[in-house]
Amino acid sequence: MDYINLLVEKRDRILFITINRESKLNALNKATLAEIHDVITESFHDEEVAGIIITGAGQKAFVAGADISEFADFNADEGRELAREGQSKVFDVIENSEKPVIAAINGFALGGGLELAMACHIRLAVSTAKMGLPEVSLGLIPGYGGTQRLSYLVGKGKAMEMILTADMVNAEEAFRTGLVNHVVEPDLLMHKAEEIMKKIMTRSPFAVGCAIRAVNAAFTEGQNGYETEITEFSNCFDSDDFREGVAAFLQKRKAEFTGK
Ligand code: COA
Repeated sequence: MDYINLLVEKRDRILFITINRESKLNALNKATLAEIHDVITESFHDEEVAGIIITGAGQKAFVAGADISEFADFNADEGRELAREGQSKVFDVIENSEKPVIAAINGFALGGGLELAMACHIRLAVSTAKMGLPEVSLGLIPGYGGTQRLSYLVGKGKAMEMILTADMVNAEEAFRTGLVNHVVEPDLLMHKAEEIMKKIMTRSPFAVGCAIRAVNAAFTEGQNGYETEITEFSNCFDSDDFREGVAAFLQKRKAEFTGK
């Protein structure tokens, strides 16, 4: 499929998605969100894709937020729909992806941009990146899961401060507070993202999917994380990957996982 707002490339079983609206600092308009939904959900059925890396076009921004020009005259109902649709069709879809998703934050990750990165399973940022949820400076609050996911990642106190002040944090502070997993120099960003993804790809895809569901359960209303862990743990025993992983260990060879 052709995309207008995304660059999409498949290489070494990794799907690279680049948000490509550089002149608008890759701000997420409706069309871009719809394309992200399409490309991610399609990849779930694509056996040639084992993992997804999301980044932004250019040197300046990962994503500078939702496209402000699109909701400038919205009323409360339209605002509710914007948040609900975005959360269910994009941000939750990424978080619940069984295939690992890494955010490679190449510059500003603000508002919906940071929310996009936080929905991913792992985040890397360049040393020059700036991150924040500045919505209160627009008379809004984060609407794509930011109040929740930032609190899980950095704790309630730091999340409150970032959201109430609208201040950005630099990469070093983001790393120190647990907002990003790694900070790298700009020219090493994609290399590092690929390196982590390729390591995950050597593991059992079946077990990786189970682990994502179990970890997510801790942060999902109405789910008991410990029970989910027991269920997912048990599911692993019925998988070909489990039999292959154990056999490979005992035979002192590298496992050849199929994800089944
Ligand atoms: N929505 C729509 N357009 C955006 C945007 C957004 N979230 N963020 C940036 N843009 C556009 C600007 O309007 C500008 O477009 P123009 O050249 O047609 O005027 C272009 O991207 C470049 O941005 P600009 O503000 O000129 O760059 P800057 O270097 O002066 O500032 C930022 C960079 C990131 C600090 C600034 O763009 C900004 O604050 N953006 C909004 C961040 C935000 O509040 N996000 C949360 C939205 S809910």
